[in-house]
Amino acid sequence: MQPTPTKLDSAADAMISADESLLAVKDLKTHFFTDEGVVKAVDGVNLSLKRGKTLCVVGESGCGKSVTARSILRIVPAPGRIVSGEISFQQRNGAMIDLAQTNPKGREIRQIRGREISMIFQEPMSSLSPVHTIGSQIMEAILLHLPVTRQEARKRAVSMLELVGIPRASEQLDSYSFELSGGMRQRAMIAIALACEPQLLIADEPTTALDVTTQANILDLIRDLQQASGMSVLFITHDLGVVAEIADEVVVMYLGRDVESGPVDAIFHDPKHPYTRALLQSIPRYDSRDRDRLYSLKGTVPHPFDRPSGCPFHPRCDEFIHERCNTVDPDRYAAGTAESVRCLLYSPDED
Ligand SMILES: Nc1ncnc2c1ncn2[C@@H]1O[C@H](COP(=O)(O)OP(=O)(O)O)[C@@H](O)[C@H]1O
Ligand SMILES: [Mg+2]
Repeated sequence: MQPTPTKLDSAADAMISADESLLAVKDLKTHFFTDEGVVKAVDGVNLSLKRGKTLCVVGESGCGKSVTARSILRIVPAPGRIVSGEISFQQRNGAMIDLAQTNPKGREIRQIRGREISMIFQEPMSSLSPVHTIGSQIMEAILLHLPVTRQEARKRAVSMLELVGIPRASEQLDSYSFELSGGMRQRAMIAIALACEPQLLIADEPTTALDVTTQANILDLIRDLQQASGMSVLFITHDLGVVAEIADEVVVMYLGRDVESGPVDAIFHDPKHPYTRALLQSIPRYDSRDRDRLYSLKGTVPHPFDRPSGCPFHPRCDEFIHERCNTVDPDRYAAGTAESVRCLLYSPDED
């Protein structure tokens, strides 16, 4: 017989779910202070990721996905910097750290990068060194963070290459990145990223440049590795097909903000924000000839210097409320199965 839930039980549940959260980003703002003006690339993003789960961040190009990812790892290039917000991360030893407060060049974040949080990029050539072999790059990551000898590091490097499905792993250890195919390079980058068994893998459009078959293989690979190790994945993509395949939770971003967050089923079956709806309506059918026209949203993303007043999506919105949406900056509201929606349509104060 099920015990009747009591107040105590729900308090205990709350404690467990608080423990499960690995990463929580709160109202993060990262701006670029350029000579022409301030680019508010990330302007109030909220997201949270549980252990062992996959969170997809989705949105059109330029909405701040990559800058959000780089902010977490503290690798935002100048003239960009975090201006406010919190990035709570639970370290392996259980201690919480606010990554937004760390020194980007300091010891604390260097011990987290590559060890607790790793990142893979869309273009492996930009993160793989052209002058070092694949093997030496994996070994370098291992030797930096783990207490092992060179010989042990080499053995581990071979097993990492095997794990990511690179054939003849011990020979490939001595290859250079330019000698590998696109798919194999991506696998090598994943091997480097996973060499120290990070708790969190950030994948920034890692399959966008790949053909469909290789893309599917890489997604399977990430999922298998995740199941084996229990790591969490923050997966950035503009491709809703990929989201449907791998996400547990989804954050939809527009102009540097989260506009809708929730479980993947809620986002696909009961989208709330007009932007989310428009994105979903513009997914090409599988038999569509024009696969590049992913989004048939009206208008284009405004230039970051011309940020619209009120809700930044209002000039493109079909459900625009006259004299309201262009003046009031919407809060985040709970709505049905969605965790939060930034839209006045869901404000309890509007009628
Ligand atoms: N180094 C930079 N200097 C100035 N602006 C930048 C820089 N990097 C990114 N941005 C701006 O920040 C915004 C968000 O960029 P990004 O996070 O790369 O978008 P996404 O990954 O969603 O396509 C864009 O308007 C982009 O032009
Ligand atoms: Mg990007």
